[in-house]
Amino acid sequence: MSRNNEELSPFSLEGKLIAITGASSGIGKQIAITCSNLGASLVLFGRNRERLNQTVGELQNPDKHIVFETDINDFEKVKNDVKEAVSIKGKFSGLVNCAGVSPTMPLRATSETKMQEVFKTNVVAAMNLTKLICKPANLNKEGGSIVFIASVMGSVGEIGKSLYGMSKGALIAGTKSLAVEYGAKNIRFNSISPGVVVTPMSMSSEYSKDEKKLQFVTDLHPLGLGKPEDIANGTAFLLSDASRWVTGTDLIIDGGYTAK
Ligand SMILES: NC(=O)c1ccc[n+]([C@@H]2O[C@H](COP(=O)([O-])OP(=O)(O)OC[C@H]3O[C@@H](n4cnc5c(N)ncnc54)[C@H](OP(=O)(O)O)[C@@H]3O)[C@@H](O)[C@H]2O)c1
Repeated sequence: MSRNNEELSPFSLEGKLIAITGASSGIGKQIAITCSNLGASLVLFGRNRERLNQTVGELQNPDKHIVFETDINDFEKVKNDVKEAVSIKGKFSGLVNCAGVSPTMPLRATSETKMQEVFKTNVVAAMNLTKLICKPANLNKEGGSIVFIASVMGSVGEIGKSLYGMSKGALIAGTKSLAVEYGAKNIRFNSISPGVVVTPMSMSSEYSKDEKKLQFVTDLHPLGLGKPEDIANGTAFLLSDASRWVTGTDLIIDGGYTAK
């Protein structure tokens, strides 16, 4: 059945300026591609300039977008980048906090340094950028949509995932209070919890190097492993006006991993 434009338009991102962290790889890269296909202008953050440029090369109208080669833990640089982006492109309508690190280590192997490092990148840096984008000087007065890429590990457990899971659980929890705090300003906050998605991050993990272990992990997902597109499509929905009455939720996109 064919659909007319009017039915599809709530999913359009035309006219929206959206910031995406982690745009140089995996899920964040695909979120950038999907959002540009839906008409958004993008402000992309990543550390690796070469891979960021590869992302831009795959976007619609590459000149429409801005790229910052930035470590999101460098708060002074992030602040200046946001200011520069707004002066060039105007105010934001959305933010996707996708940059993250995913350590697998038993509790006994963790150290204070590692704990601080993981929480700083996965939680504090995301909170810092969210705070900046939500300032009236930087966000559209009509409101906006903020998405945190969390993980199923924020809700369920796995050996060696306590540190990662705690950081992702923090995003899922914080999203709910932010949704309540900013509802009156029409700023929506949601998280997405992916299961295992095939990206450089998941494919560099220990289990991926062993065929049997990878098959075991695959079999934990009734629909098999995910593709970055599966997460990008959900993110685009949360950024679009199609989700205008959705806030404070955690959208699980996990091929059935948590259904069992
Ligand atoms: N893949 C999965 O199975 C899976 C499952 C659940 C949740 N997730 C979450 O999805 C997100 C993306 O994961 P992915 O699989 O796409 O990983 P990935 O391919 O390794 O990409 C990670 C991204 O985060 C960026 N990043 C990390 N630390 C950064 C920092 N300090 N400053 C700026 N950028 C930084 C990287 O930038 P550079 O490469 O430029 O340094 C890269 O763009 C993560 O938050 C992850 O926890 C992934």
